[in-house]
Amino acid sequence: MIFFEVDGLTKRFGGVTAVNQISFRVKRDEVVGLIGPNGAGKTTLVRLILGILRPNAGTVRFRGEDITRLKTWDIVQRGIAGTFQNTRPFRRLPIIANVMVPCLGPRAARRGEWVKTVEARAMDALEFVGISDLAREPASRLSHGDLKRLELARAIATEPDLLILDEPFGGLNPAETELLAKSIRRLHRGGRFGRLHSEGAAMVIIEHKLSELMKIVDRVVVMHFGEIIADGPPAEVVRDPRVLEAYIGKEVG
Ligand SMILES: Nc1ncnc2c1ncn2[C@@H]1O[C@H](COP(=O)(O)OP(=O)(O)O)[C@@H](O)[C@H]1O
Ligand SMILES: [Mg+2]
Repeated sequence: MIFFEVDGLTKRFGGVTAVNQISFRVKRDEVVGLIGPNGAGKTTLVRLILGILRPNAGTVRFRGEDITRLKTWDIVQRGIAGTFQNTRPFRRLPIIANVMVPCLGPRAARRGEWVKTVEARAMDALEFVGISDLAREPASRLSHGDLKRLELARAIATEPDLLILDEPFGGLNPAETELLAKSIRRLHRGGRFGRLHSEGAAMVIIEHKLSELMKIVDRVVVMHFGEIIADGPPAEVVRDPRVLEAYIGKEVG
């Protein structure tokens, strides 16, 4: 069965076709980088996948199921989680509560989990990203770098099989970037992190900073003006003339 598949996905905003007939697949054990110049349509694509936007055409399938018209909440319940380019936490809630919210729902109920269990796992997610000491602070207290970590903790606490990260390294300094890259690699390998359990998450990582991304991914999909212009191994993609042209004046790799 195809693990994850986007087929002919299209989104128009007035006269702008932000995402134009996009099709690609992700395998269960893959880490895919999604790159492209500013305005290429990467964030729009992620928002379509996560059910935040409705497409004009096309489908998103996860484990054989059409999830195109599902709400974000129901998509998370099925095992897809994402982090967003612009973080918007519940600022007045404690950090731990921010992590717990997406975990409480039908899936938790089916597993026989309730607040204490979910809280324990949320704490381990905060531990994993390195901000468990701030768990009881309101989210409004967090620095930009720590907000990025909260975003990641919130996603991984749901124990996703597919994790979608939109510019996870944005605004991070080199040390923070290195730390986060390490966490991402650990999540992909999977394992037990306290009460948090991961069978190894497939990933789609959107990133502007290509040098860091290229070390993590198995494959790169390149978008330009809403379309895919290349899809292949990192070493091939960075030599592709169409990709170089799209990035003219910018560094690739
Ligand atoms: N909510 C929106 N309303 C109108 N236009 C939008 C909206 N979101 C994105 N766009 C437009 O869609 C295109 C793709 O944007 P985006 O997906 O943010 O690109 P990227 O993430 O690759 O930089 C841009 O031209 C952008 O201006
Ligand atoms: Mg974007």
